[in-house]
Amino acid sequence: MFLRKTSLNSKLLTIVAPISIVVGLAALSINIAPAVAQDASYQPEFTDDKMLKLPRGKIWREWPFVGSLVTPNALNGGEAPFPEHHMVYIDPVSWSHYKETGEFREGTVLAKELTLVRAPDGANEDGSTDEISGTGYFMGEFSGFEITIKSEELYPDEPGNWAYYTFGHHAEPYAETAVRQPAEACNACHEASAAEDFVFTQFYPVLRAAKGGN
Ligand code: HEC
Repeated sequence: MFLRKTSLNSKLLTIVAPISIVVGLAALSINIAPAVAQDASYQPEFTDDKMLKLPRGKIWREWPFVGSLVTPNALNGGEAPFPEHHMVYIDPVSWSHYKETGEFREGTVLAKELTLVRAPDGANEDGSTDEISGTGYFMGEFSGFEITIKSEELYPDEPGNWAYYTFGHHAEPYAETAVRQPAEACNACHEASAAEDFVFTQFYPVLRAAKGGN
């Protein structure tokens, strides 16, 4: 009786195990598919009067991260123009293209988000804090969001075909829409000081490494 039961169980196992692997794999692909499709399909959306809409679902936070820097007040005479952490991301399709060609394609979108320096009670005089990993400038809350888009089709007259939008330099919620900035407000500084095609790749190790084939 015991033996018969065992052989029945092992028969059942040979039938059930492959089925559960197939079901498991199907579930996995269902989980993965929407994320990939959503990332790859990002297209800037505009209102009728050509304002850029804030990307849905704050999708830029899921894009490849290219670099970050921090410019605290303490190191800028007490008044840094942006006393924050800056984080820069590139949309996934343009990232793949950049890896292959080393160039920013038509339609490239770069996003820059800021966070305040973490400032709990008891911060040091220079604004740094003593945390478990050491003394330094740690991230506080989100504090601003900007986008630049390269498109010859949309912006034939902008230098380098790059247009710049800001959704506010303040805590969330950010503005739902942003107006295109005049070239002298944003583009001019990028043209003058950015290392590569109006983009500050000198601060983005991920892009530099990709270009070098790493
Ligand atoms: C005085 C120079 C200057 C001006 C003016 C300026 N930027 Fe930038 N921008 C920078 C620097 C430097 C970086 C590199 C990252 C950083 O320091 O935050 C940068 C990075 C960016 C990035 C990330 C992608 C890239 O091109 O490197 C975006 C997006 C951006 N700026 C948007 C804007 C917008 C929108 C405006 C106008 C409202 C603007 N910038 C005006 C200097 C400038």
